[in-house]
Amino acid sequence: MNRNVVLTGFMGTGKSAAGQIIAKKLGLRFIDIDAEIERTQGITINEIFALHGEEFFRDLESAVIDELSKAGPAVIATGGGAVLREENMRRLRENGIVVCLMAEPEIIFSRVGKAGNRPLLKTDDAMTKIKEMLKARSPYYNKADIIIDTGNKTPLETAEEVIQQVKDMVS
Ligand code: S3P
Repeated sequence: MNRNVVLTGFMGTGKSAAGQIIAKKLGLRFIDIDAEIERTQGITINEIFALHGEEFFRDLESAVIDELSKAGPAVIATGGGAVLREENMRRLRENGIVVCLMAEPEIIFSRVGKAGNRPLLKTDDAMTKIKEMLKARSPYYNKADIIIDTGNKTPLETAEEVIQQVKDMVS
C-alpha cells in the first residue's frame, strides 16, 4: 500500500480504534490528527476549544492535516469535523483513499454521549445534538470513496472490512 488510508466519520464511529488495527495489519504508521494537535499544543482538545474557540481548533486541524497528509504512507484518523473544510479533504484525497465510518445516533450516543472529552457534545441533550450534527454533516461524509457501517462491528471487524474494501479499490 503506497497511499494513505484516511478514516473520516462522526465522533464515536471507531476511527481511532479501527485505525490502529489497520495500521498494524498493513505495516503502516498510524496518525491520529486529534492526538497530534494535543501533542503539538501541549493541551487537550477540550482546553483548546475552551481557551481559543472552535475556529482556532479548525485552523490547527487544517495545518496538521496539511503537514501529515504528505508524510505517508500511513493510516490517518481524522476528527469528526475535518470533512467540513474543503481544503482538508482535497489534501487528504491527493495522497489517500478516503473511508468514512458510520453508525446510528443511538450507537454514537452510547459510545461518546457522556464521555466528556468531546467539546461539541457538552450540552444537556447530547442525543439531539448528535442527530442534528449527523444530518448537517452527512453530505460531507457521503463524499468518501468507501463507506462502512460500524454499528454492529467490533474494531477488528471494522478494520478487516476497511482493508478488504481498500484492497478491492486499488487492485
Ligand atoms: C470533532 C470531533 C473530535 C475532535 C473535536 C471536534 C467534531 O474528534 O476533533 O472534538 O467536530 O466532530 P473525534 O471524531 O475523534 O471524536
